[in-house]
Amino acid sequence: MIHESTLTSQHLMQLEDHYGAHNYHPLPVVLSRGEGVFVWDVEGKKYYDFLSAYSAVNQGHCHPRIIKALTEQARRLTLTSRAFYNDMLGPFEQYITRYFGYDRVLPMNTGVEACETAVKLCRKWAYEVKGVPANQARVIFVAGNFWGRSLAAISSSTDSNSTRNFGPYMPGYTIIPYNDLPALEAALQDPHVAGFMVEPIQGEAGVFVPDDGYLRQAYELCRRNNVLFIADEVQTGIARTGRLLACQHEGFLPDILVLGKAISGGVFPVSAVLARDEIMLTLKPGQHGSTFGGNPLACAVAMEALQVVKDEKLAENADYLGKIFRSRIQEKLVEKSGLVEQVRGKGLLNAIVIDDEPEGETAWNICLKLAENGLLAKPTHGNIIRFAPPLVMSEEQLNECCDIIEAAILGFEG
Ligand SMILES: Cc1ncc(COP(=O)(O)O)c(C=O)c1O
Repeated sequence: MIHESTLTSQHLMQLEDHYGAHNYHPLPVVLSRGEGVFVWDVEGKKYYDFLSAYSAVNQGHCHPRIIKALTEQARRLTLTSRAFYNDMLGPFEQYITRYFGYDRVLPMNTGVEACETAVKLCRKWAYEVKGVPANQARVIFVAGNFWGRSLAAISSSTDSNSTRNFGPYMPGYTIIPYNDLPALEAALQDPHVAGFMVEPIQGEAGVFVPDDGYLRQAYELCRRNNVLFIADEVQTGIARTGRLLACQHEGFLPDILVLGKAISGGVFPVSAVLARDEIMLTLKPGQHGSTFGGNPLACAVAMEALQVVKDEKLAENADYLGKIFRSRIQEKLVEKSGLVEQVRGKGLLNAIVIDDEPEGETAWNICLKLAENGLLAKPTHGNIIRFAPPLVMSEEQLNECCDIIEAAILGFEG
């Protein structure tokens, strides 16, 4: 095997370009090491990571406690499948259900699998508990949602780039506008509706924060109509928005909770669906599963990663630093620069909107400038730049990062 450090960034990018599918458009930076809030490229240049692998690395890169849990477990037992019991799954299930306050958990691997599991579970509940006639169940989604790339996921997408030439699509979906309670109320009139799946803050769409009270009222509407409220907290969960779960900002526990990404600190693909007995126990042996879901390595990593979030008070830190970030960007950029129209977000899930067309190059060019100055961020939908650093950042580091962002953008204008 060729050791990566013997190859230059240029050569490594050419390899991906030549041998890989062209389904991503990465910033031209080749990373080979990470620690805490920092990553290094193969030439040794150091960067602040302001993406955290789309909010998976909330606990910081290569957190020593999580890596210790991973390596110790890797030496003992990695995979048994669910054909047998293993000595890590039960303890993990007890740990995570108590941690989030649910009766039961169904462990999977990636976010999209967990979201799809939630939709399946919701349909099963509709037929077996609610009494919806066979094959008539509907699930409501909102425009701008993102929950991955499977056929079930893209069938709910309103982004033509995600859907074009991948049809036919999954039936039984109703799409309504985001942050629109009257639209939800109208859609809930259909007695065959089983569930409403929503991101508390839309991450991939560009960090759209709904009005205060929207989620809570949507939850109440679902409850009144005997419809399950499914929170896709794959990106917003695990302390990212300044609470353990973004739904906690509005003080309710969703009927079905979907988690992924930072549940493992970005160390290993782990995802989970949590629900109460009435919902989860509709699944019987052989009706759903995954070879890797609930494997001992995932269980060991996820327990340690979740404990780190508590021990290091990462939700509190995200809440505190997020306020500083938004107020600095508001004051120094939104109010003083013509280039930044808005800063929005909660905790350390934030974005700025650049005054440019979605097809424009300005946000991309700003991200290239930021990378040159030692900070990595990525545009989404052309003119939006998401800022989501690891939650282990210190106040001093955050202020240094704000200096870098402000200088890059003000310099850009000049
Ligand atoms: C809200 C949300 N749900 C689901 C997913 C899918 O997760 P994964 O890429 O691990 O399948 C993502 C990924 O970005 C996401 O942001």
